[in-house]
Amino acid sequence: MPSEKTVYQPNPALSKIAYVSSLNQYQEMYQRSIDNPEDFWGEIAKQFHWETPIDINKFFRYNFDVTKGPIFTKWLDGATTNISYNLLDRNVRNGNGDKVAFYWEGNHPDDYSRLTYKKLLEEVCRLSNVLKSKGVQKGDRVAVYMPMILEAVVTILACARIGAVHSLVFAGFSADSFAERILDCEARVLITSDGVWRGEKLLQLKNICDQSMARCAQKGHNVETCIVVSHLQRVTAPNGTQIKTNKTPMQEGRDVWWHEVVPQASTSCYPEWMQAEDPLFMLYTSGSTGKPKGVLHTTGGYLLYAATTFKYVFDYHPNDVYWCTADIGWITGHTYVVYGPLANAATSVLYEGTPFYPDNDRFWEVVSKYKVSQFYTAPTAIRALMKFDDSLVKKHDLSTLKVLGSVGEPINPEAWLWYYRLVGHEKCSIVDTFWQTETGGHVLTPLPGACPMKPGAASFPFFGVQPVLLDESGKEIKGEGEGYLVFSRPWPGLMRTLYNNHDRYESTYFAKFPGYYCTGDGARRDADGYLWVTGRVDDMLNVSGHLMSTAEVESVLTEHHGVAEAAVVARPHPVKGECLYCFISTTDTAHFDDKLLKDLKQLVRERIGPFAQPDVIQDAPALPKTRSGKIMRRILRKIAVNDRDVGDISTLADSAVVEQLFSARPANA
Ligand code: PRX
Repeated sequence: MPSEKTVYQPNPALSKIAYVSSLNQYQEMYQRSIDNPEDFWGEIAKQFHWETPIDINKFFRYNFDVTKGPIFTKWLDGATTNISYNLLDRNVRNGNGDKVAFYWEGNHPDDYSRLTYKKLLEEVCRLSNVLKSKGVQKGDRVAVYMPMILEAVVTILACARIGAVHSLVFAGFSADSFAERILDCEARVLITSDGVWRGEKLLQLKNICDQSMARCAQKGHNVETCIVVSHLQRVTAPNGTQIKTNKTPMQEGRDVWWHEVVPQASTSCYPEWMQAEDPLFMLYTSGSTGKPKGVLHTTGGYLLYAATTFKYVFDYHPNDVYWCTADIGWITGHTYVVYGPLANAATSVLYEGTPFYPDNDRFWEVVSKYKVSQFYTAPTAIRALMKFDDSLVKKHDLSTLKVLGSVGEPINPEAWLWYYRLVGHEKCSIVDTFWQTETGGHVLTPLPGACPMKPGAASFPFFGVQPVLLDESGKEIKGEGEGYLVFSRPWPGLMRTLYNNHDRYESTYFAKFPGYYCTGDGARRDADGYLWVTGRVDDMLNVSGHLMSTAEVESVLTEHHGVAEAAVVARPHPVKGECLYCFISTTDTAHFDDKLLKDLKQLVRERIGPFAQPDVIQDAPALPKTRSGKIMRRILRKIAVNDRDVGDISTLADSAVVEQLFSARPANA
């Protein structure tokens, strides 16, 4: 395995054509972005349309110090623009109307289509007009629960065009989770599809939405309009037969089929000019106290940041074909499937299915079919694909690839090397991009033509980003060392608040270290100045790139009448990165048996979603607690990996519990 000192140089041919072709050039640009942000971002802003011009005196203001007053960040305050105008109309005017914006590749290889910039603009205008006719106005929230289909992109941009705030929820979340999010943002309009095939599995999305809407109604909130894309009847089902959608229940007066309202609408819709600091979208992310946080992004700064990170981190050039496999329901889908690529007039692949259908080489088949030059995926997918025979990769022509991206969790050196050697033929740069829903775009990453790579290092800050490592007392760690990863100033794409909850925004991200945005991750700086993200320092865990909190899973488990107490910890998993290991104490009347296990797994699937299903649930007649009653998770993490080196347990109320739990580890653990 490579050590921290092993460095892989970018391919000289790539560096030669790259926008940033050396570490020196990167450092110069970086310094300018820090010393003179007005100049740096002002130059970039010129390529976009501002209906009300940018006022240089109000270019950039912020407060990151809770002791000095409310936290805020403002970029380009007072300027007005519209993102959909910049992504569509501007590109069409610049001669890109007939350029393909998206190649859509269906779950089944027989299903594919494409959309040019001109056509995308028309479709966006049509839906914008429909939304307006349904009473959607600037500032209203629109809930979206969509698969990876072109209408999802149209939906996002139609909301942006009329100034509505889109709130997408990953269509793997359960009806309960979706309902909770609709209620929180009080959306009155919902957009979904009848269903989708993922591999050989049929997901009936409209049914899930119906349950969510019913749950909202019970709580006194009515979704007034639900627009449904009829998708299943136009695609090929895995067994080769067509599915008819006449079973999809539609509620009179509320539910409308997309194809019955959108095609009739006008293809022109004047954009709503938005203040740079007006909300663009919200996206929920897990919070360590359980309740999801509605991360809010605004218009002007997000546009600049999505556009700029996309251009430089993927080194996207006009004839390239780019593919990001992330679901549109996550932040990666927002910034790097939709906003970033379109802001650069890019051509992208939008893929509906899984890496494993119809065979385990589907990713590589799609790369070669569309001659993809930049490919962006998650370590969990790489680890899952590494298990198969190399021939599945080798049989495809991957010679068009130039840049390979990784996102969502630390990438282990084994996976990095497999990606580099087998997929990238040692000629592609790997960009290990560290960022968060909250950061809007990449904040730590190598640049592909400039930065010598170290497997597993997120490397250096992007332009405008100032990372700092702090120790527990808040003292800065200079040079080599490990600590809390924080940022000392905002970049344009940073979230501005949590929807309807600015207090939680301040307390979650700014209270621990006044003057800094706190990521919740730890990081290490090596002797060469490279940053290595070491993982969460709070009670969050990352399962296949899905961030969740131990608290939210614990609260679901204790909902069950048979569970008195639950404690959940993360355990390393060879493919998922981390998995859930749960300890539960049953109530006096309940029995820890197969039925209870099944019920608990089902409950987690229902309340959160299938991706949160625990891998192990262990019977814990007692939990290791301090005398003051605090559960010592450090010990539970050791039990989960069967490591008896538990350290000091003298503060436990009853230290015999530890041995009991070790000896009662379940057979499947
Ligand atoms: O712990 C970090 C991890 O994912 C968290 C953010 O999750 P989310 O908001 O869902 O956004 C994921 C996609 C941007 C971070 O706090 N993380 C993300 N990327 C990396 C990472 N950890 C290490 N290396 C990365 N490249």
